[in-house]
Amino acid sequence: MRARLHVGCRVAGAVLVPLAAAVVLASGVAGAAAPTLAAQTVNQFQKNGGVFPGYRRNHAQGVCISGYFQSSGAAARYSVAEVFQPGERTPVVGRFSIPGTNPYAWDDVTPIRGMALDFLQADGREWRTAMNAVPAFPVATPAANLTFLEAQQPDPATGNPDPAKLAAFFKTHPRADAFRRWDRSARPSTSYATVGYNSLDAFYFIDARGGRHAVRWSMMPTVAADGSKVPPGTPDFLAADLHHRLAQGPLRWHLVVTLAAPGDAIDDATVAWPANRQHVDAGTLVIEAAHAQATGVCRDIGFDPLILPAGIQPSADPLLKARADAYAESLRRRLRDETTADAPGG
Ligand code: HEM
Repeated sequence: MRARLHVGCRVAGAVLVPLAAAVVLASGVAGAAAPTLAAQTVNQFQKNGGVFPGYRRNHAQGVCISGYFQSSGAAARYSVAEVFQPGERTPVVGRFSIPGTNPYAWDDVTPIRGMALDFLQADGREWRTAMNAVPAFPVATPAANLTFLEAQQPDPATGNPDPAKLAAFFKTHPRADAFRRWDRSARPSTSYATVGYNSLDAFYFIDARGGRHAVRWSMMPTVAADGSKVPPGTPDFLAADLHHRLAQGPLRWHLVVTLAAPGDAIDDATVAWPANRQHVDAGTLVIEAAHAQATGVCRDIGFDPLILPAGIQPSADPLLKARADAYAESLRRRLRDETTADAPGG
């Protein structure tokens, strides 16, 4: 079976950090308190894919983007966030990526594509969101996430995850089934532009009367997939395709907000909501430019999903806090690398 959520194959050139060294990195002082769950999680990403100084500890392969969001006004009924108000145009910086720690990974090692965005509201508040092009997340809790990462650690004898460990994980974690079904049939897209990206975690929109609406959101593409094949000999074909398309003009996605119905799982990202839920087209994301991640606008941004403007609040999904902590840990490590290693930022 393929478990490719966090697994990065083709880790040529990886500098593998032994566990003890990684723990010292995380805690700062040898012999200090046990590493936090975030540090353990990031250590495990590093053990699975290798360490590439200066780069993100997950989703390391990627490209910065910039543009704006044009609100339709349709979501203003549900959220007072400035970004949703009628006629509002909000500058956006962001990043496309694939999972794994290897910034040189071939784009077809995984069918998963990520889109991270930072909406820069005029009132100075920001809305950060990192979405994946999958219908459901494989685990519901931070502890299960770490267990899943551990099960994906390459066996030194084969260089691949141990199938018996993965089988044992899936046997005890049936919530991963929706993700696995998708993973078995998904094919790597040849373009970031033709893919829809999902928040997976739920949040609450807060309306002008203080009413709370449980929501998830998706960025739905306006460009249809054209069935093109992965170009041979081009590891980073997604960035090449993006630059090629942007040379012809901006790329657009619709921000579609899905409202939960009573009984829907609010705090469990492994459960996709039924397709017949109410959808609101909140506006259009317009991406105008792409920039190399070593020098681009997204380089030093951690796309912490808990950075939210007034009008959007987190749900109780435990993955949200775990993500905030892990993204901060990854950001700390890659910024610290920059002061100690002659490496480009990622
Ligand atoms: C709803 C589930 C999740 C989604 C949709 C998601 C999506 C993403 C995306 C798109 C990125 C790339 C961000 C960028 O371009 O800078 C990213 C990065 C990352 N993710 Fe997640 N992720 C999820 C869950 C998790 C979990 C549970 C963990 C670990 C607790 C995790 C750890 C990380 C780390 C460490 C990074 C690198 C952050 C940085 O250095 O800025 N993710 N994720």
